[in-house]
Amino acid sequence: MIANISLNLPAVIEFGAGKINTLNLHLQGCRKIFLLVDKPVFPKIEPLVREIESSGKEVFVSTEVVPEPPIDTLAGLLLPVRDFSPDAVVGIGGGSTMDLAKLVSVLFTGEQQIHEVIGINNLGKRNIRLALASTTSGTGSEVTPIAVLTDTREKLKKGVVSPHLVADVTIVDPELTLGLPAPVTAATGMDAMTHCIEAYTNRFAHPVIDNLALQGIALIAANLETAVSDSGNLEARTAMALGSLYGGLCLGPVNTAAVHALAYPLGGEFNVPHGVANSVLLPFVMDFNLSECSGKYAQVARALGVTTGGSDKIMAEEGIQRIKGLSARCGIPKGLKQLAIPEAAIPAMAKAAMLVTRLLDNNPRKVELKDAEAIFRAAFRGAEA
Ligand SMILES: [Fe+2]
Repeated sequence: MIANISLNLPAVIEFGAGKINTLNLHLQGCRKIFLLVDKPVFPKIEPLVREIESSGKEVFVSTEVVPEPPIDTLAGLLLPVRDFSPDAVVGIGGGSTMDLAKLVSVLFTGEQQIHEVIGINNLGKRNIRLALASTTSGTGSEVTPIAVLTDTREKLKKGVVSPHLVADVTIVDPELTLGLPAPVTAATGMDAMTHCIEAYTNRFAHPVIDNLALQGIALIAANLETAVSDSGNLEARTAMALGSLYGGLCLGPVNTAAVHALAYPLGGEFNVPHGVANSVLLPFVMDFNLSECSGKYAQVARALGVTTGGSDKIMAEEGIQRIKGLSARCGIPKGLKQLAIPEAAIPAMAKAAMLVTRLLDNNPRKVELKDAEAIFRAAFRGAEA
């Protein structure tokens, strides 16, 4: 029987080249806009900011974003935004920017503190408009009810999940991703690939999401290398933007699983970019899961372009090799050793990953502490393979 599912998505999703120019239209009725934008992106959107200002709105621009943002970065934004008192928050950038913008749009009032809202459904209502535009093709944050911050004290990523983090308007404009550096394109693209694979093989997978996930896998597999090697290729960038959007749409209703859970300590303790951590761990978690979902992994392999045929297990194994090959050709390190993570850190990382139960519970095969350690060790040795 088909399971129940809730789809909580932005009211409007604008997709396509040049769509960023619809932003002012979607801010109609707002007077004070807080705009958080990635510093390198700002010159691209400066004319748009002038257009918004010339339509009578006041815009407070901040570029105070750092990758994998610590809780302190959010805290630093809240006071000036409270003083400004916006009626709309706009986040234009990668996942870090959009996650910060989402949290600022609710927490700037000071009614709740960040430590009170970590976890699922702890966040109060958002009373102002929220618009997001993605400038990378990967995180999917532009369509999710999730924001992730780094707790530098506990050295762990922490997630806030709430329907009040879903944007009113999301703009996915591939022109904003033109010129994105190759390492960022590769890492964010493989993050999107991971979203699709982890949603499709999720314990709570759902047909309405399965189709998006498989389409996303196929689009990313066919276009990521071109996007990495030819940063100005709009066709590849548009395909990646769509694949990434599909991956993002998987996240709210179904979400990710053990790859993302095990990636958390890599980001939290060693500052490994989210997409790189996922990409390195993905084939090793797939190896671990294979016994539980070879049929689904065979479908993943077909979406990746594997045509060799054979049993589900053979197809699935071929798919895992495809993932390793794609990552390598995109310049992503093969293993933890290449990320300068010491083998001695593995027991603590495994312990930290086991705390991310909201994602581990989604995994098709139950992950115990010893399994998490074994996956990390396999990923460590991956550098030698
Ligand atoms: Fe992700």
